Amino acid sequence: MRLFIGIPLAPAVVAELAALTEPLKSPSDGLRWSAEAGWHITLQFLGKTSVEQYTCVTAGLRQIRYAPFEIQLEPPGFFDRAGVFFAGVRMSPELTRLQERVVAATRPCGFVPEERPYHPHITLARDKGGRQGLRNLKGRVAGVAKFSSFVGAEFLLYESFPGPGGSRYEVRERFELKTGT
Ligand code: 2AM
Repeated sequence: MRLFIGIPLAPAVVAELAALTEPLKSPSDGLRWSAEAGWHITLQFLGKTSVEQYTCVTAGLRQIRYAPFEIQLEPPGFFDRAGVFFAGVRMSPELTRLQERVVAATRPCGFVPEERPYHPHITLARDKGGRQGLRNLKGRVAGVAKFSSFVGAEFLLYESFPGPGGSRYEVRERFELKTGT
């Protein structure tokens, strides 16, 4: 199975992001838009995971004691080389530390931490191969977008099912963040 760990968004923020993306979509835009039901902030991409590793990862993640914390989205941006349109996520010590804790918890299960710096974001669309879709989009994205902050109260273990129209995600496990722990 193909797994990753991420934080889901609050419904109000999903609605705000949908209000941003809906007017930008068109059938011939050359983009593959991610389904709003699957919007998340990745903490760690695990990729191919064996049954043994699954057991190890869930046990490790269950050990994490972490208080809920505030998450603030930032204006959208583009990863040009990857062909991605994303909503930014403000880096905070709480988010950084949770990401570090998650990576430390999966390490004994055989997952090697990524070397590139953590760049939290929410992927909203990917180009379909050509660069024109993203280029056109750049001219149409409003410069200023404000999003409500929300309290991240859980992180999830997702399974990803890649398909021709994009990946579909299913939640396999939930890990609650609790005050006072
Ligand atoms: P992305 O949206 O920026 O591609 C499931 O694929 C999640 O894991 C996505 O949020 C994806 O980020 C992230 N991810 C990180 N590294 C990945 C990789 N090497 N392959 C696929 N997804 C990756």
